[in-house]
Amino acid sequence: MRTLIILSFIVGVLAPGVAGAQQAGAPALDEQQTQGRRLLNQHCAICHLKPQLGAATFGPALSKETLGGQEAVLREVIGNGLPRMPGFKHEFKAEQIGAIIAYLKTVPAPVAPAKP
Ligand code: HEC
Repeated sequence: MRTLIILSFIVGVLAPGVAGAQQAGAPALDEQQTQGRRLLNQHCAICHLKPQLGAATFGPALSKETLGGQEAVLREVIGNGLPRMPGFKHEFKAEQIGAIIAYLKTVPAPVAPAKP
């Protein structure tokens, strides 16, 4: 039982968080999605991906379900930022933001943490 809890915890933490990992059964990324994953790792990881097991992140986990997966809303948030998040519209071209969104669409929603 304890192993199961620990395992589901690890899956819950790693599955959505490790953007570099190719998950079993997940489709291979195309060129645009690969570019998006790289940009996310370089520019967003500090706040949105866990640096180590059990660590908290400053920003929420990102996945295909973030903001209902609505492309226009994602573009607006990534471009203009939020109160605690910088905007990227001066740093990124429209197609770079598009690549990040294309990659996010491949990221499964986080698994709910195991109940003790
Ligand atoms: C300085 C830390 C920081 C960086 C860097 C950052 N974010 Fe955020 N992000 C946040 C925080 C914090 C929030 C939660 C909203 C708030 O508190 O303002 C957020 C919210 C979001 C949301 C909305 C999530 C939701 O569920 O409502 C999206 C989408 C998002 N970020 C995407 C990105 C992308 C893509 C990048 C990289 C290009 C990025 N963020 C870089 C801190 C950051």
